[in-house]
Amino acid sequence: MAKTFFIETWGCQMNDLDSQRLSGGLKLRGYRRVESEHEADVILLNTCSIREKSEQKVFSRLGELRLVKKSRGEVTIGVCGCVAQQEGQRILDRAPWVDFVMGPGNVGNLDAVLDGSASIAIDFPEDRTYDYLSIDRSSATKAWVTVMEGCNKNCTFCIVPTTRGREVSRPFDEVAAEARAAVESGRVEIELLGQTVNAYRCPVSGRDFGTLLSSVARLDGVLRLRFMTSHPAEVSDSMIEAMREHTNISRYLHLPVQSGSSKILRRMKRLYTREKYLEIVGRIREAVPEIHFSTDVIVGFPGETEEDFQQSLSLVEEVRYGSMFAFKYSPRPGTPALKLGQPVDDEVASERLTRLFEVHERIKRQRLESYRGRVLPVLYEGPSRNDPAMLAGRTDDNWVVNFVGNRAMPLGSILGVRIDQAQHHTLRGEAV
Ligand code: 5AD
Repeated sequence: MAKTFFIETWGCQMNDLDSQRLSGGLKLRGYRRVESEHEADVILLNTCSIREKSEQKVFSRLGELRLVKKSRGEVTIGVCGCVAQQEGQRILDRAPWVDFVMGPGNVGNLDAVLDGSASIAIDFPEDRTYDYLSIDRSSATKAWVTVMEGCNKNCTFCIVPTTRGREVSRPFDEVAAEARAAVESGRVEIELLGQTVNAYRCPVSGRDFGTLLSSVARLDGVLRLRFMTSHPAEVSDSMIEAMREHTNISRYLHLPVQSGSSKILRRMKRLYTREKYLEIVGRIREAVPEIHFSTDVIVGFPGETEEDFQQSLSLVEEVRYGSMFAFKYSPRPGTPALKLGQPVDDEVASERLTRLFEVHERIKRQRLESYRGRVLPVLYEGPSRNDPAMLAGRTDDNWVVNFVGNRAMPLGSILGVRIDQAQHHTLRGEAV
């Protein structure tokens, strides 16, 4: 009988994609995917270490898997992803029932860890195997396509340069070929991924991110094009021009600001000021009116005063983000921010986080309410998650819409949906 595997994934889309690559690699080697660790011969945890909490979850999960292994014997347990990269041997010391530890640079090298010849694979090989044809894409309508990996920014709070290595862009032609293959397999939406996606530069031809965007947008059959995550300091005229010119590029941009205070931004080494960020937002808005901006904010960074925090509040008001992800600062091992003094008192940070969400909630509500009564183009993705009687899809500015409609419609069709209700994070409507 075929061997089986189970993968659990935490963290960002990069990790989701790595899990699809791992899954594809295992299937190529004859393994079958199962949805429970109790039926699996190989159990993989694809981990995240962006904040301390995500890292702690890994070790508590490993405690549970120890019992699975105890009761079943022949089970291989692998820790992948960013905690693997960051902790390496320490995972094997702390949890000796783990069979191997494999970092993000080794997703393409499954053989060595599977046959037991290596228990630690945490280097970043120059020549990384990238077999895009074997990616086990879970969505019938959308494909993630990595354009670059790693990060050369050195934001003082961030673990990513350690866990994902230095920036490496993939050759332009390879990215285009992967996007084409995805379209040929029926995916109508492409999402380009990179830790600082807009820092992309083709290692062969030097072509930049704007050129890449335009060229993928022009591919026949690409109905929607998105990308994640953009660094504000890397927003270029060519990127903005591509967004202006191509109507199949989603009117949605995740542009993490992290703080509204120029003083804190400097301490974070974000390479822009509040004023500069607002100017970039203004330029993009001018090119793409009604764009849905989304952001990340950190509260309680070392040195953040009430006044600095007020500036984050006022920036959120000023940009009127449709979506916001906000976090309490979490000290990460080896990051420069550890030397910047004590983080803000935890209670104060929690209280700031609450206030920030309150302000944003009001803005988001207004935006969602503004769609009521309008007919929006929605890309149909399948049954709704919460209510299987309804269908679900997304607007071109990336809001999830649950709607009443004809389920015989092909997945990936774009149709008009009249919005009748704004829900907490989503919209509700009826196909017209
Ligand atoms: N503490 C809290 N939040 C962090 N992020 C990254 N590093 C940290 C940290 N040490 C947040 C940033 C980033 C998002 C993915 O996670 O806001 O944009």
